[in-house]
Amino acid sequence: MTDEASSPVYDESTIFETPLLELDVDVPGTVYGKAEWYNLYSAPHGGGSVKSRIAKGMLDGAERRGDLEPDATIIEPTSGNTGSELARLATARGYDVEIVLPDNASGGKIDAIRDAGATLHFVDADRGYDAVIDRCEERIAADPDGYYRPNQYENPDNPGTHERTTAAELYEQTDGEITHFVAGAGTGGTVTGTGRGLHDRGDVTVVGFEPAEALHAIDGLKYLKTGDHYHPETYDESVLDHKEYVSTQRAYDRARALRNRYQDTDIRVHDTGQHDRKTVTDHLRVDGQFVVGTSSGAGIQAVHQLADAGALDETSVIAVMLYDRGDKYADIPLWESYLS
Ligand SMILES: Cc1ncc(COP(=O)(O)O)c(C=O)c1O
Repeated sequence: MTDEASSPVYDESTIFETPLLELDVDVPGTVYGKAEWYNLYSAPHGGGSVKSRIAKGMLDGAERRGDLEPDATIIEPTSGNTGSELARLATARGYDVEIVLPDNASGGKIDAIRDAGATLHFVDADRGYDAVIDRCEERIAADPDGYYRPNQYENPDNPGTHERTTAAELYEQTDGEITHFVAGAGTGGTVTGTGRGLHDRGDVTVVGFEPAEALHAIDGLKYLKTGDHYHPETYDESVLDHKEYVSTQRAYDRARALRNRYQDTDIRVHDTGQHDRKTVTDHLRVDGQFVVGTSSGAGIQAVHQLADAGALDETSVIAVMLYDRGDKYADIPLWESYLS
């Protein structure tokens, strides 16, 4: 076992049951944000993220099925969050971990993976994300018995964890009043699993969004619109009732508008999830600012696009994922001039 094993910052009991914030967004209806950095909230570099959920779900599933030998090296291609969350949980459970990621991943995510004790392999980001997946497959081919790849792009435990947890939480935290769920697609696990779980529970419109541009800078999302791109098996588009395409510039503008809105105003915490109010308050802001990641800004933009299309009214109850906090993006154009 590594030092991390005894470290409270990687305490798995803090995963799931994240807080729900009520956001002041200028659209008809009520907009809630699911604040996912409260998963592993006390971990360095911005806490955890939406990916803490599936890292736990995929490791638990593999151990339960006996797929994971104790001496296996876990390897995964990722744009960052799955890498840091797998690295944190798996090294704490005693496994070796290798993460393959594009060389433009944000510094906060790289540091989080490194701090957890995993080995990093960088791939030239200009070669596109599919090259990251290819590099991972090459390493596994060289030692097929030594590696275990959770494979967030194909693993049913990815959407399955969201179906079991995120959907149930959102339904309960909104007292069953949720009418719209809005989430972006990287692996598609969040929108697919949560969407399925919400459809099972009530009359909820599931809205997916994807980057509008091939060369986008919305961390965690995968461009799929045109061309020959790998389509994740975990992204079941039949679950979506509607899809929006979001540009990087608008995503960044919305994230910054949210920061400006809460510059001098308290953020309404609708439900604290598994945490006490002080824990929630202590981890809401960074340097006094409410900063979220790029894909969270994209989600707010998708909500605006729905409103512009006339799809929302005063009775709408919209839940949007706030995938991670802005600390991870202190070195990219979104927040570099805001965070020291
Ligand atoms: C910051 C961020 N936002 C959104 C997503 C998309 O989530 P999913 O892979 O469940 O589609 C990811 C996935 O990596 C992410 O890291």
